[in-house]
Amino acid sequence: MDKTGSGTAISLPHFSHDKSPIATLRGKGQKVTAVVPVELIDLHPEMGSLLEEALDGLTKPQKTLPPKLFYDERGSRLFDRITELDEYYPTRTEISIMERHVGEMVARIGAGAVLVEYGSGSSLKTRVLLDHLESPAAYVPIDISREHLLASARRLAAAYPGLRVMPVCADYTSAFEVPEVEALLARPTVFFPGSTIGNFEPVEAADFLRRVARVVGPGGGLLIGVDLKKNAKVLEAAYDDAEGVTAAFNKNVLRRLNDELGADFDLDHFEHRALFNEVQGRIEMHLVSHADQRVHLNGTSIPFRKGETIHTENSYKYTLDQFAHLASATGFAVEEVWTDDQVFFSVQYLVHRSP
Ligand code: AVI
Repeated sequence: MDKTGSGTAISLPHFSHDKSPIATLRGKGQKVTAVVPVELIDLHPEMGSLLEEALDGLTKPQKTLPPKLFYDERGSRLFDRITELDEYYPTRTEISIMERHVGEMVARIGAGAVLVEYGSGSSLKTRVLLDHLESPAAYVPIDISREHLLASARRLAAAYPGLRVMPVCADYTSAFEVPEVEALLARPTVFFPGSTIGNFEPVEAADFLRRVARVVGPGGGLLIGVDLKKNAKVLEAAYDDAEGVTAAFNKNVLRRLNDELGADFDLDHFEHRALFNEVQGRIEMHLVSHADQRVHLNGTSIPFRKGETIHTENSYKYTLDQFAHLASATGFAVEEVWTDDQVFFSVQYLVHRSP
């Protein structure tokens, strides 16, 4: 699953819907394979080179590794475990908000909607919506990870036999050519749960929302999960759990570089750290070097001083006002906000204002 990261611009192909049991659709030179009951539209997003991305980040003055590198198979399994931890409140809180207010949410979305989900890792939340939506026209999950996308799309198609499921393999952090999507997405509502918006830098978040505005068009809706600012202790515990699952998730990126690129990181010489940066309004995850050491990656020797860190992730937290401000700067108006009793998390329905 793609949780953020940038890539090249993409455009959806023109295509027609073939009702034959196994259909192959083509558009703009791109092969579009359709397997009933799910119709995969494969835009072949560029994956970027792991080596280039790792070397680029590890040779900066503040060493970094992009958070999308967390999500290999092991990392995705660790992330699933994170979502079940006592300390990690976002997932269960968002689901409980959705369960409690789903009637109001589907009333906003309306009958006959095409539900477009950015990312496809949240089938539990999707199911809450699909269980209640009135005659949805189609469900269109968009994700960069083809295998993950297909597996979760097939599971949903099996669970909702009458539903048209059209997974799109694409980097949703890149541009979509709206006119070409329109035929497919007659009346799209975008669903972006999980507060993945928080993993974008604010400028990237604004760019992303502008692109979503173009996809949904004037009057179109965005149902989005947004994690809220709260006590730093609660936040830091959510990203540094007692069991050490988040630490393993963070260190998994080093394990990946060892396994896939032959790097020689000693995982015992790095420590997980999560801290709330009050000034920036974000949780930062780092890997702290325990000692002066050198790590080797594809012939490059990378020096670490004791205490030096690799910055691996930001997770921005918003106040309701800050998010409303961000939304309005990108052409959206916040129509409704649902929160839990502690106001830890919000699910918000935004509408793209006509220009
Ligand atoms: C995917 N994303 C919304 C998670 C978050 O809370 O920022 C990623 C995560 N990192 C550590 N724990 C969870």
